[in-house]
Amino acid sequence: MCGIVAYFGQKTAQPILIEGLKRLEYRGYDSAGICLVEADDSFNIFKTSGRISALEEQLPRPANTASIGIGHTRWATHGKPNTINAHPHVDYTGKICLVHNGIIENYTTLKKWLQKEGCTFQSETDTEVLANLIGYFYANQKTKDGKQAPPNCHRFEWAIQQALNEVHGTYGLAILCSDCPDMMIGVKKGSPLILGVGENEYIIASDAAAIVEHTTQAIYLSDGEMVTVGDNGFYTKTISNQQVQKELKEIEISLDQIELEGFEHYMQKEIAEQPKAIETCLGGRIDLKNGRVILGGLQNYFRELTRAKRFIVTACGTAWHAGIVGEFLLEQLARIPVEVEYASEFRYRNPILEEGTAVIAISQSGETADTLAAIELAKERGSLALGIVNVVGSTIARTTDAGVYLRVGPEIGVASTKAFTAQVAVLAMLAIELGRRRHLSCDVAQQLLNDLVLIPDKVASIMGQSEYIKQIAAANIDKPNWLFLGRGFNYPVALEGALKLKEISYIHAEGLPAAEMKHGPIALITDQMPAVFIATRCSQYEKILGNIQEVRARGGKTIVVATEGDEHIPAFADHLIYVPDVCEPLQPMVTVVPLQLLAYHAAVLKGYDVDKPRNLAKSVTVE
Ligand code: AGP
Repeated sequence: MCGIVAYFGQKTAQPILIEGLKRLEYRGYDSAGICLVEADDSFNIFKTSGRISALEEQLPRPANTASIGIGHTRWATHGKPNTINAHPHVDYTGKICLVHNGIIENYTTLKKWLQKEGCTFQSETDTEVLANLIGYFYANQKTKDGKQAPPNCHRFEWAIQQALNEVHGTYGLAILCSDCPDMMIGVKKGSPLILGVGENEYIIASDAAAIVEHTTQAIYLSDGEMVTVGDNGFYTKTISNQQVQKELKEIEISLDQIELEGFEHYMQKEIAEQPKAIETCLGGRIDLKNGRVILGGLQNYFRELTRAKRFIVTACGTAWHAGIVGEFLLEQLARIPVEVEYASEFRYRNPILEEGTAVIAISQSGETADTLAAIELAKERGSLALGIVNVVGSTIARTTDAGVYLRVGPEIGVASTKAFTAQVAVLAMLAIELGRRRHLSCDVAQQLLNDLVLIPDKVASIMGQSEYIKQIAAANIDKPNWLFLGRGFNYPVALEGALKLKEISYIHAEGLPAAEMKHGPIALITDQMPAVFIATRCSQYEKILGNIQEVRARGGKTIVVATEGDEHIPAFADHLIYVPDVCEPLQPMVTVVPLQLLAYHAAVLKGYDVDKPRNLAKSVTVE
């Protein structure tokens, strides 16, 4: 996810762009840049890796007087977060300059074609491919199959439309052309884009945060629409060149809220974002027809991975819980032995890493010190080191031999939510693809992948229970200790539920395999210790019912997560939360959501800082 902002008007563009980018920095902050249109119509570009503050240090003081410009703050998806990959990007002719929020899925194919046509590239990004594609059609005024551009079309608009016809993917764009300095074009598909309409000035941005201090009048573009801004106003059309009327809307919410897009907290937003996040994580990676998974970052290592004798998964916290789900997935679907290690333990216990062992680090931030040290140890011992990471270009991502990015956008809340479900999604895809390269049949893989692509909708369907789950939290937040219990694939979910509650509501909680209760913890059961059970439809359903009865027989109160339609379970639950039916290996992405909401509401009801809980940091970069 990135932030784009563009200004067209009479004022000095530089400060407007910078302030706008700062309002969008939560969307991504690994590199930033602006392009100003000088009086001689040339592009003056400033860009750098790092935060917007690093970009500000490069800018002229007093500000450049240009009154047209575009800006971008990046959350890298393709290409390291360095200066050369930072936006804006200029095409090979130097006439087209653009900023982009989104993913061009077929950029490698387009890049190869453009290179054959003589285009040159400076960066590793998909965005530069798009800039060159527009530049190619602008320079040649011919379609890909050689047809001349229609004589009466606007050359710049036509080139953009031609290019976007070739593109698969998502984009929010602001585009300039040095031959048409009195124009700026915005286009939207799959990524948000808004046009703020002021007094003889216009601002195009990813969200209203960058607009609302200049005007509260806005046009919200829909997918497949473009807006052309000029000295005589603006007009909108589709990318297939059909005129379209858009109504001006009032931007209502206040600035300080907007960065949360109306949510109370980033954690609440990130819980709610999970359907879209999982969809983006899966995007372009599932080949349903052949029952295969495309993980480009591992392409050169699948031969070695398929022959691995053992995987060691190493991580911390929530990522470690995802790793346990990964262990069950890889062992069940790929039949490769897996061990899951706390990175902080692994790095110091002189582990045995025999030939054929691959080490997989899981880390949202890609900066966790213990996980980084574990990976460095693995590499020193000659093991293949892989990363499942969210932040592109992070230290762990750069240290591992290869990896898979989550692609879920910045996770700002300290309590990890969308990263967990995406980590499980990536592990499921990896297990299925490795399984298919070993013994897993196409039919079984297709069934799993068909279930996997339905997960976003199933997660979305749980969000409607938030207020109901809040009542359950309210009824139990006075209890000082909770137990979380699950079996099989839901055992690590029980661990994750306990961690969520602990880290933001400061209520002590413990996660356990449900059967372990009889080996000690059942001594703790009273009506003052809520026991949260995950009792969804699964191979151990009857067993977990037995565990619930053991708790209830001793006066314990039960909060149960069960499968929709289970009419047997109400008799076992003091509080009951239904979730959609999902095949067992994929259940963690669904059963974790009620537990995230339970923890979130408990913390809010207790009046704590949900996004920045005491003593914690989003990334533990020290031992
Ligand atoms: C989870 O909610 C916590 N914020 C914490 O346990 C976190 O998962 C852990 O520090 C690992 O972080 P990483 O995924 O960025 O490596």
